[in-house]
Amino acid sequence: MKLLFLNGPNLNMLGTREPDIYGRQTYAALEEYIRDLCEELGIECEIFQSNHEGALVDAIQAAYGKTDGIVINPAAYTHTSVALLDAVKAVGIPTVEVHISDVSKREDFRQVSYIRLACCKTFAGYGFEGYRLAAEYLKALLGGITGQG
Ligand code: DQA
Repeated sequence: MKLLFLNGPNLNMLGTREPDIYGRQTYAALEEYIRDLCEELGIECEIFQSNHEGALVDAIQAAYGKTDGIVINPAAYTHTSVALLDAVKAVGIPTVEVHISDVSKREDFRQVSYIRLACCKTFAGYGFEGYRLAAEYLKALLGGITGQG
């Protein structure tokens, strides 16, 4: 089973960026966290971060036929991007939305999520742990579909 982890704009600034909201751990620490959890769960993983909407669309399209599930934190593009929504719909790969912060308790403009319309689940407000919850969710879902563990 292979999962693609996608992270959107400004997540490369984790650790520096608004630490009261996003914590003090760096993006490199997030990548290490994801690699460790995938090893533990026996999942092959690919991790990609971009500040560019089109690059994220390209990564979703490239996953077609190669990836069983997607974990995506589209960051600010969550609230604006029909292109990312359409890309996830186009490939039809089971996708889980993750946010480090609890967007439901933040500004009004963060209450809109386009990507959510194409996602089977959302985890928000669990910090890095949200990525683990998403991977475990997809492993259980895909194990049920494919019969693989
Ligand atoms: C975020 C929440 C978004 O509203 C914000 O634009 C981000 C990060 C999160 O992980 O909490 O960049 O997706």
